[in-house]
Amino acid sequence: MPPPDAGTAPAGFTITVDGEPVPVRAGQTVAGALLAAGRRTTRFTRFGERPRGVFCGIGVCFDCLVTHNGVPGVRACLEPAAPGDTVRTQHGAGEVRT
Ligand code: FES
Repeated sequence: MPPPDAGTAPAGFTITVDGEPVPVRAGQTVAGALLAAGRRTTRFTRFGERPRGVFCGIGVCFDCLVTHNGVPGVRACLEPAAPGDTVRTQHGAGEVRT
């Protein structure tokens, strides 16, 4: 028996996260794609470099901040993923370390 959304599932695409391709289903947020790919850390805290990730999932806690297409401080749980997006794990207030 085919899965419930067979034939109606939206086409997928790929975004780049910290230099690596991550698959995305159309309509997913950046956070959704990261979680589906097993990536739980979206940023590291300014003090102590402690990992943070999706906590509330509704745009309230700001724990899911990423650098999205060069813009730091973007809430991954609210940002729709788009083909060609580039996402970086954020350190502190937004400086990106390679
Ligand atoms: S997970 Fe809380 S703002 Fe994104």
